[in-house]
Amino acid sequence: MPPYIVSSPLQGFTDYRFRNAHQKYYGGVDLYYAPYIRLNGKKVIKPGYQKDLQVKNNTTINVIPQVMTNSAEEFLFVSDYVQSLGYNELNWNLGCPYPMVTNKCLGSGLISDPDRIDGILDIVHSNSSITVSMKMRMGYEDASEILDVFPVLAKYPIKNIGIHARIGKQLYVGGVDLESFQRCVDSTDQTLYFNGDITSVARYREMTNRFPMIDHWMIGRGLIADPYLPMMIKEDATDYPEDRIDRFSKFHDRLFTEYSDKLTGDKAIIRKLLSYWEYFAQRFDNTARIIKNIKKTKTIEAYDKVIAEVFRYERSKSYIEV
Ligand SMILES: Cc1cc2nc3c(=O)[nH]c(=O)nc-3n(C[C@H](O)[C@H](O)[C@H](O)COP(=O)(O)O)c2cc1C
Repeated sequence: MPPYIVSSPLQGFTDYRFRNAHQKYYGGVDLYYAPYIRLNGKKVIKPGYQKDLQVKNNTTINVIPQVMTNSAEEFLFVSDYVQSLGYNELNWNLGCPYPMVTNKCLGSGLISDPDRIDGILDIVHSNSSITVSMKMRMGYEDASEILDVFPVLAKYPIKNIGIHARIGKQLYVGGVDLESFQRCVDSTDQTLYFNGDITSVARYREMTNRFPMIDHWMIGRGLIADPYLPMMIKEDATDYPEDRIDRFSKFHDRLFTEYSDKLTGDKAIIRKLLSYWEYFAQRFDNTARIIKNIKKTKTIEAYDKVIAEVFRYERSKSYIEV
């Protein structure tokens, strides 16, 4: 069986523009989770979220929407909304690690409260036909917090639990905690997806050898940094194909066009593309210099020159300062 690759959501990165461009120029992803919807107290789905999930913007890809909430009422509001668009699954974010979220008992801040999780799931399952899946860290303070959540989740028809093998307090500092992830595997019969730090084919192989019982792999930052990764994993390839730069250049141009249509002003467009380049540049030579040169640009013309030089260099592997 070929590996099942899931694009882990990154708010600000994996919107429909990115997802469609990725699917068109690379592929290899079986399922894309959309970044979370958050209501902030108002029962309104913001236009940006609406656009991201509209069927016409997601015709060629398999997408599951996500919600971040600690309220059954909000959960139901969002599930009604996504069902009205034709989605039949909603993923629940219990992973976000940032203090402004976790302090409000949201994201990974909710993992330590299994009773509250139970209450929300009870109301949701009593009032909606939506299929619920989870995306979690293993806790906020401690990786054993999730162990008390498993028996709660087992009471409901939860489709799967994607686990980012870190705790919230860690943010992204330090590695994934594979021993604690193994404890999760040993503590539940539910379907677990593995997530965290899959950035290369070699790393993917390492993880599949260590966790042969896992057959769904979620890739977040590694997929932005290297859009080729899912396809290379599927082909078990160790080297990039020869068309790497040509393909990346088309993919980049598509993203550029999409964000040029969305944003106003050269600076806003460059800032957006720069946020992607913070990841893309990790897979090119002269990473710091690429970022520095993009940061210096103030016009699209200057940006184009920097990018053209990156591609020229990568094709010829000789560098000329722009
Ligand atoms: C900028 C950024 C935005 C993210 N947004 C979301 C999100 O909307 N929903 C979610 O479940 N996880 C989100 N995550 C977490 C990732 O989906 C993923 O779980 C995490 O980065 C670990 O996987 P990775 O090592 O493959 O990146 C975000 C992470 C980053 C860095």
